[in-house]
Amino acid sequence: MILKPFMREGIMPLPVSFISTVSADGVRNIAPYSCIMPVLRPLDLICFASAEKRDTLKNIRDTGEFVINLPGAGLEDKVIPTARMSGPEVDEFEVAGLAEKPSHTIKAPGIDGCYAWMECRLEKEFKEENYSLVMGKVLRLEIVDGALDENLHLDPMAAAPLMMTGSKKGMHFCTIRETNGFEPFAAMFPSGVDPVTAAV
Ligand SMILES: Cc1cc2nc3c(=O)[nH]c(=O)nc-3n(C[C@H](O)[C@H](O)[C@H](O)COP(=O)(O)O)c2cc1C
Repeated sequence: MILKPFMREGIMPLPVSFISTVSADGVRNIAPYSCIMPVLRPLDLICFASAEKRDTLKNIRDTGEFVINLPGAGLEDKVIPTARMSGPEVDEFEVAGLAEKPSHTIKAPGIDGCYAWMECRLEKEFKEENYSLVMGKVLRLEIVDGALDENLHLDPMAAAPLMMTGSKKGMHFCTIRETNGFEPFAAMFPSGVDPVTAAV
């Protein structure tokens, strides 16, 4: 079956993140973002794509900071309340009935009830006509107790990261299941030594 090229996002499950920001006037904002990726394993950078018409993007330009909150399955009902277009004067924590989790390194608060939080400072914006790629530096990375084992392996049952695929009709929410496959990073290197793990 051949699909229209824009359907690429329908065939790869994407994480659902909530990006929380504060406007220059102090209004709290939340929006779901799925076009998001870390920039290479050893780095502390994370990148997401934002359409131009987003309060999130304006707030980040104005304040230089944002929190990427990772919700677990069960927070699907917060997606639409935070995704609906609302004016910049609307406090989206109140609209969605979400409570703040105070941040440690920036003013923008995180969202209580998520399983992980990345406090970020704007590193660089790659601006195009109708959208931007926003690169953030992760200043603080926090995860709830019990979501990682002693090897810092994410327990999919405990965290149950909220993900989605897009179909013709809309968004389908899902989470992850382990195959129980495992390979050490070192297996990729002829030397048998992974330079990143060695440096940690
Ligand atoms: C699951 C989901 C994922 C989304 N991902 C993105 C995204 O990656 N980039 C984007 O620009 N908009 C994305 N959106 C749309 C924004 O969340 C939506 O336009 C929102 O109203 C923007 O809010 P804001 O103006 O307060 O920033 C997504 C929406 C949903 C429901």
